[in-house]
Amino acid sequence: MLCKNRRQYDAKELEAASAAIIAMAKTFTVTVQRQDNPHGGKYSESFELPYEPGMNMTTVLQRIAANPVTSDHQTSAPVAYDACCLEEICGACTMVINGCVRQACSALIDNLLQESTGPIDVKPMSKFPVVRDLVVNRKPMFESLKRVKAWIAVDGYHDLGAGPRVSVPQQEEAYPLSRCMTCGCCVEACPQFNDKSSFIGPAAISQAILFNVHPTGSIDREHRLEVLTSPGGIADCGNSQNCVKVCPKEIPLTDSIAKAGRDTTLYKLRQFFGR
Ligand code: SF4
Ligand code: SF4
Ligand code: FES
Repeated sequence: MLCKNRRQYDAKELEAASAAIIAMAKTFTVTVQRQDNPHGGKYSESFELPYEPGMNMTTVLQRIAANPVTSDHQTSAPVAYDACCLEEICGACTMVINGCVRQACSALIDNLLQESTGPIDVKPMSKFPVVRDLVVNRKPMFESLKRVKAWIAVDGYHDLGAGPRVSVPQQEEAYPLSRCMTCGCCVEACPQFNDKSSFIGPAAISQAILFNVHPTGSIDREHRLEVLTSPGGIADCGNSQNCVKVCPKEIPLTDSIAKAGRDTTLYKLRQFFGR
């Protein structure tokens, strides 16, 4: 199945489908992959819910929490999940729904019911350790960001005066990359990012480029290029381009990867010629 983000659904098609769903579906079923603790086994539970117009996956999880009774009438525990902004800004609610990684808060039930005739299937992301049910620990991504120093270093909170001006072309290059919310969709889709590899992943590569193009952030440019040329860096990217297809913020990740490739090549050539 082709995974679509919420912007890729046609509004008219959706309206017609919603009307059809409202007419047909009085209830729908959601199957959730559960895990009681980080070391517990996985198991599945299904919940049948009454259809309400305008529901998203977070609403569904709230309805289950209010009445955690499975389709076979067993009382269960509420499904654990993360959420914060409820508007696809924080990335906390990222999970795999109907086989596609996306945010629960922007995954509309009307769209999900169109994707499959069976139950809506919900799982935690597979590239991170599960804390409980749909809650994962995204620490591996944050460790990658630490490796490339994805920030602008400050040496205090005193007034340092105005920083260097950021030109319009620099702003235009940086802005799309600055929309990253560290949701994890790109690393979930990346075949090279897994617990057996030290690959930093597409989001960290893109953030290294973001801070390298910033006039103040470029103070740590050499450190970032060194990380990108080290084991786990740009050479580990297999160029399958899965990452760019699933990014909900439509960040041009493959452009960042291509730029990282060019910048690291020049960096190594300069080192070789002693410049
Ligand atoms: S690059 Fe896109 S998919 Fe990857 S973490 Fe950032 S927002 Fe999410
Ligand atoms: S292009 Fe590179 S970073 Fe993106 S999914 Fe493929 S291997 Fe991963
Ligand atoms: S709750 Fe923030 S992205 Fe869904």
